[in-house]
Amino acid sequence: MATLTENAQATEAIAKHLNQLVADSYGLLGQLHLAHWNVEGTDFKPLHDLFQSMYEELFVAIDDIAEQVRILGYYSEGGLKTLAAMSNVPEFSSAAPARDKDFVSAILVANEVVTQSAIVARNACGDGTDPETEDLLIGRIRVHKKHEWFLKSYLK
Ligand SMILES: [Fe+2]
Repeated sequence: MATLTENAQATEAIAKHLNQLVADSYGLLGQLHLAHWNVEGTDFKPLHDLFQSMYEELFVAIDDIAEQVRILGYYSEGGLKTLAAMSNVPEFSSAAPARDKDFVSAILVANEVVTQSAIVARNACGDGTDPETEDLLIGRIRVHKKHEWFLKSYLK
């Protein structure tokens, strides 16, 4: 059975992973906006709409993840500069002209970073350590994997 100190350390680690997921999710949110605004090509309208549905869903989810940090007794990271410095999501240039498939490929990469971030956080909650946070994270992983399917299907 885990000691109180071990439980506290596990919770602190989970909170850290959740804050990382907030930062990575913000990174993806920014890229989704960029893609939504600048995508061009014959599939402009469906992609413009797909990117919007993804960032709207993500915006709500980020709030839940950050509030879970507070529920665990820690403080949530925030602010664009702080989150940008923490995020592992690669950015594509807003100046470079890109076709529809370029945006889909870039969003696919960004989405994968967030999926992996959520998996790392979920794994820290396993074996009954924190089933409620694990549940939240499993939900996030399912959404990001579904979006991965959408994006990959487009590229085929
Ligand atoms: Fe818009």
